[in-house]
Amino acid sequence: MIKIKVPATSANVGVGFDCLGLAVSYYSTITFEPSTTKLEISGCPAEFQTEDNLVYQAFVKGCNFLDKPVPNVKITITGDIPVARGLGSSSVCVVAGLKAASVWFSDGISKDQLLSLATQMEGHPDNVTPAILGGLCVSFMDDHHEPQVIKYDVNPELHFVALIPDYEVSTHEARKVLPKTLSYADAIHQVSHCAAMTKALELGDMHMIHEACDDRMHEPYRAKLIPDYDAAKAICERVGGTMYISGSGSTLMAILADEAAENEVINNAQAAFPSWKIRKLTVAATGVTSEVSERGKVLHR
Ligand code: HSE
Repeated sequence: MIKIKVPATSANVGVGFDCLGLAVSYYSTITFEPSTTKLEISGCPAEFQTEDNLVYQAFVKGCNFLDKPVPNVKITITGDIPVARGLGSSSVCVVAGLKAASVWFSDGISKDQLLSLATQMEGHPDNVTPAILGGLCVSFMDDHHEPQVIKYDVNPELHFVALIPDYEVSTHEARKVLPKTLSYADAIHQVSHCAAMTKALELGDMHMIHEACDDRMHEPYRAKLIPDYDAAKAICERVGGTMYISGSGSTLMAILADEAAENEVINNAQAAFPSWKIRKLTVAATGVTSEVSERGKVLHR
């Protein structure tokens, strides 16, 4: 049996629209085993238990890339990363399927190839790169349409809390609300704030995180799609924290200085939004991992 574990990811990190992404300690585990039928899938709603399933699609893409016949496979999905909440759930599926194909065929897909194939499937690199590499990644597409990635450190003293609404925001809709152009002044604002944000996260400098996390590319437009944005932001800022929209939403991510602030945000958010999922998170330093076992015995990782 092949077991693949993939972290959720929080794209944009406020000011890094379409280029920053953070892997967080919220995982899905997906197992792949030989099957007597072409495809068996469990652990997801019945409507996704078909050949259109994104995990299977990615598995097939990986096999095709390796020029191998697609084996009969049983896929079991475990984990509760919610969909359409800005936590990279589709990247989890894509990375898991591709990685499983690689492991199935003797680790035939290199890390660079995995990044490239996953980006092709996702259409953008900001979620798949941290899902594969872990940590905080800055990525962009080069002139050959290949992803280029660099990792940044995040100070381990920082605390992250995901405030996950009980409503979805579709990325498609959240991109439709964005303006088509940006002024030179806003571009300067954005570049300076994004560069400062990466260093502030490394230093764990809450003052600079707060100053730098002032987005002009997407948050002002997308905040309107999240009715509780202002209330959640007030809860985070009351304790000196900073909040940003994770990916295209609806999750709101709080960055906090210490455990006291973290607990206060958790308690106040839970009281204000009783039907939301509130999760304490840390940065997932490593991305996707795999384990091969036979009759319960781990053969290699
Ligand atoms: N960077 C993308 C966006 C992430 O904000 O639209 C979508 O998951």
